[in-house]
Amino acid sequence: MTQLLVRDLAQLVTFPGAEAPLRGDALREVEVIEDAYVLCKDGRIAAAGRMHELPSFAEEVEELDGRGKVAVPGLVDCHTHACFAGDRVDEFALRAGGAGYEEIHAAGGGILSTVRATREAGEQALREAVRRHLGWMRRWGTTTAEAKSGYGLDRETELASLRAIKEEGAVPTWLGAHAVPPEFADAGAYLDFALAEVLPEAARFAEAADVFLERGAFDAGQARRYLQTCRDAGLALRLHGDQFTEAGAIPLAIELRARSIDHLEATSEDGARALAASDVVGVLLPASALFLGRPMPPARALIDAGAAVALATDFNPGSSFCESLPLVCSLAATQLRMSPAEALAACTVNAARVLGRADRIGRLAPGYAADVVLLEAPDWRYLAYHLGGDIVAGTIVGGRRD
Ligand code: NIG
Ligand code: FE
Repeated sequence: MTQLLVRDLAQLVTFPGAEAPLRGDALREVEVIEDAYVLCKDGRIAAAGRMHELPSFAEEVEELDGRGKVAVPGLVDCHTHACFAGDRVDEFALRAGGAGYEEIHAAGGGILSTVRATREAGEQALREAVRRHLGWMRRWGTTTAEAKSGYGLDRETELASLRAIKEEGAVPTWLGAHAVPPEFADAGAYLDFALAEVLPEAARFAEAADVFLERGAFDAGQARRYLQTCRDAGLALRLHGDQFTEAGAIPLAIELRARSIDHLEATSEDGARALAASDVVGVLLPASALFLGRPMPPARALIDAGAAVALATDFNPGSSFCESLPLVCSLAATQLRMSPAEALAACTVNAARVLGRADRIGRLAPGYAADVVLLEAPDWRYLAYHLGGDIVAGTIVGGRRD
């Protein structure tokens, strides 16, 4: 039997049309159907609507009671670093006592301490780590997650990371330019190696390439070289930019027609205006800003200027040990002054667009993947309202109850 009917839902929530990314008023034009059903067939949504319009069925249908529940599209986490070994709990305790994130990084800790643990882990352990982390995300309603490499920074571990990510069902991004590993004298020498020795094989697994454009990591010239070479190898482009400083990431993202620029905590009004006038999606990571005690990204300025924004967890061991998109939606509403509708659009339709999948996921409409989150709530806005609340009653992935 391949049909699943979720019936008597208090609400079913989606965004009308097929446009992506959503921006401006369209970010707020959420469609709420009361007393609703959704019918899944062969992994896709066959129909969704009001109970009194429910068609009768000739074939057998498995039914799921949706009373007291709200259906929203499966959440899409478009920015995670889910492939790592070890943890950074010691560093977390040091930061709680006043040590700075960049200071720890400059002293060879931070990202490079996770690189040491990840290199030692082996492919099987990395696969298990990715599986465990994706399981944590699923409990909070994430049905599609991107995951980056970037904690290997040698050929073997980067490729093992990308394979582990792909085999565990996440969307792989090659973050080959995350940090300069200690065996290279400088960023240029490391990029010579990474682009010649790792990229050709990485491009077989990864869908996109990403770079950390920041003081102490890679500058705009190095990022341009890395991204252009990756684009020539067929990868979509993404950037970590404006996390601590504005170092030219937005102009570069626009020039290279990147899919996204992510972080933006240090973005100025000029930067926000430039991004808003482009097709590059701004990915906001408020859990990371919170975890590091950094300023929040200027979400209101971006959205009001017409930018397309997405939300993601940035799940990683150092700057955002947080796998919950509902919590990110709460932070969006309380810290970024985004409405619940803007937050939902940002981690469904617009996040799907960042992953090049907006035609397949992110909406509850006929033809889209039957990825559904059932919230234990009388109103869909509880997604953002119930801060840290245990509101995910269940998920349906590809038409199957998870
Ligand atoms: O997105 N900023 C660079 N990379 C990650 C953090 C990685 C880490 O601290 O391990 C980020 O915040
Ligand atoms: Fe990140």
